Amino acid sequence: MLEKLDELLEKAQQELAQVADLESLDTWRVTYLGKKSDLNQLLRNVGQLSREERPLVGQRGNEVKMALEAAYEARAEVLKSAHLAIGLEAERIDVTLPGRPVRVGHLHLSTQSLREIYDIFARMGFQVYDAREVETDYYNFELLNMPPAHPARDMWDTFYLADTLLLRTHTSPGQIHAMRQYCPEPIRVILPGKCYRYEQVTARSEFMFHQVEGLAVGKNITMADLKGTMYNLARQMFGVDRKVRFRASYFPFTEPSVEVDMDCIICRGAGCRVCKHSGWLEISGAGMVHPVVLKNGGYDPAIYSGFAFGMGVERPAMLKYGIDDIRYFFGNDLRFLRQF
Ligand code: FA5
Repeated sequence: MLEKLDELLEKAQQELAQVADLESLDTWRVTYLGKKSDLNQLLRNVGQLSREERPLVGQRGNEVKMALEAAYEARAEVLKSAHLAIGLEAERIDVTLPGRPVRVGHLHLSTQSLREIYDIFARMGFQVYDAREVETDYYNFELLNMPPAHPARDMWDTFYLADTLLLRTHTSPGQIHAMRQYCPEPIRVILPGKCYRYEQVTARSEFMFHQVEGLAVGKNITMADLKGTMYNLARQMFGVDRKVRFRASYFPFTEPSVEVDMDCIICRGAGCRVCKHSGWLEISGAGMVHPVVLKNGGYDPAIYSGFAFGMGVERPAMLKYGIDDIRYFFGNDLRFLRQF
């Protein structure tokens, strides 16, 4: 019996030396240390042996079992580290290789243009004032001197959200918010943001676009201040030799009202397709704040005066970069967007 045990130990050790992976190791464990293994059977039957044989076989059996268990553990350790090493090898990376470039986005052309406008006005002392995109009829029209049924409302085709709630058609309602907040302090702000119009989308007109409103309120503000501000804008945005002209116009919230034009940046006034052969390009609507609007903002028009203007953002950018269709701005075509 003792010989049988020694043979078993030797055979098991030999086989274990051949085991090369964790799967075979497990098969080996079941064969030599499992419940149905020869060793286990043998130890279970020790009781049937003679009195002399019993302690000897029992002791030797346990020694063999312990030896096999230790051998198993040692082999498992070796195989596990080898397995790990293979894994690491497979995952080896060359840390000296240059990294893959991560493609980052960039600011949309409208945002870039807005920021350029902020910079120009910041240099003239204008702060940015954020006003809401969803407005009431009251702010978008009534407080701007357009009572219900006023024909001038037709100048702005409107998206209504509810009876008296709408998407602002221009940034002008922000004038009232700013005045009501700052009154009676002097004001010098620009109000940028999205505007919405229920109109035909064409190469020149979108249903959503950006405007920048300007508002200055204080004592002794005159048309000359507006003119100087518009000169500065045109020259900083489009070049130092720009000419500017004011053309009489009409807005219900300014009196007098003007359209601000600058000489065409393409033909320099000679006349071309871009300026429709007039030599001039429109850059902004503007005027002196109407006394009714000043009063609605909380200012006494006998003491205070002010100027306001409202310019588009996309149309000037189209002129600057030679873009012939406004629909590219929000068409999300990366071939267009990546150019700026
Ligand atoms: C107004 O919206 C007035 N609130 C401007 C104003 C403010 C006048 C303060 C006086 C005092 P107008 O509708 O002309 O005006 O629009 C101003 C500018 O917004 C236009 O010159 C143009 O650049 C831009 N704009 C208007 N409609 C569109 C459109 N559908 N798509 C793109 N840009 C537009």
